Amino acid sequence: MLALETSCDETAAAVLRGTELLASEVASQVAIHAEYGGVVPEVASRNHLRALQPVITRALERAGLTVKEIDAFAATTGPGLATSLMIGVSAAKGLAVALKKPFVGVNHLEGHLLSPFFGQPKGVRPAVGLVVSGGHTLLVEIEGFGKYRKLGQTLDDAAGEAFDKVGKLLGLPYPGGPHVDRMAEGCDPYAFDFPRSMLDSGDLNFSFSGLKTSVRYLLEKLTERPIGNLCASFQEAVVDVLVGKTMDAAEASPSGVVAVSGGVSCNRRLREKLRENCDARGLELFLAEPALCTDNAAMIGFVAALKTQRNQFSELTEDIHPNLALA
Ligand code: KG4
Ligand code: ZN
Repeated sequence: MLALETSCDETAAAVLRGTELLASEVASQVAIHAEYGGVVPEVASRNHLRALQPVITRALERAGLTVKEIDAFAATTGPGLATSLMIGVSAAKGLAVALKKPFVGVNHLEGHLLSPFFGQPKGVRPAVGLVVSGGHTLLVEIEGFGKYRKLGQTLDDAAGEAFDKVGKLLGLPYPGGPHVDRMAEGCDPYAFDFPRSMLDSGDLNFSFSGLKTSVRYLLEKLTERPIGNLCASFQEAVVDVLVGKTMDAAEASPSGVVAVSGGVSCNRRLREKLRENCDARGLELFLAEPALCTDNAAMIGFVAALKTQRNQFSELTEDIHPNLALA
């Protein structure tokens, strides 16, 4: 299987044999978009076009295969930026047509959601899944492969978006998430008291835009900026809400398993607090390794492999779906 991922600003290709990963290559456009402080769709699509062929070649070389030895071609069909999705989907379909092999369309969110189970001996397990990325904050009951029930989601900003916006307010480079994580290290998470929005709302939805606003108001009042303590306190507020809601969902779930994915799940404080809370409740925790948390094609290939095992191939008429939902 050759899987492609071009839904946002990373151009990625992966090669798998069954559910075994042979190669995973990512060409990041972060440096290009950092100049603008965010992803510029037109720029992203032009760079996918430039980067895709070399990334595919690199992945095939790493796997020690030629394109003619590939049995199926997969790509992310959505959700994402329309003009970015088109590049990967068109390439995968073109290869499928040329080599007379099947095409498999994959939902990017399903890729993230199942990534903690990639390489696990028991494969996908019933679990409460938390997807926390730059575009999504989603709690899902995973009943089995392809059986997902949405439990809650953000009503405004995604968790990663909050990290990036606060990073920008603090003058950190784009994307802010990893920088906030680094600056917070060894600093006081209780130096500033930021709101834990909706923590006691009684449902499993999230809201992060108020938190970002309260950081902005505080910065207007401060004469100096203890940046490490600001990062640590903001991060703690986000982590408290993410962990609190995930534990609420897990306690109501019959699975006893928690699976956390998406770019924000690289966050070291989030990983630490999830571990502590799951241990205290006897819940089994699955976290993807950091390289599989941010956008990549390996997670797309994993879902595609599970689909092909069930004969779930896509038609070549299958289009991109920029607003594709998970459940
Ligand atoms: O999953 P991803 O690569 O792309 C989307 O599908 O959105 O997630 C990117 C997001 C960005 O908002 C980035 O700031 C955030 O993940 N992120 C982090 C960390 N690493 C990446 N946020 C907090 N701490 C991190 N260590
Ligand atoms: Zn993503």
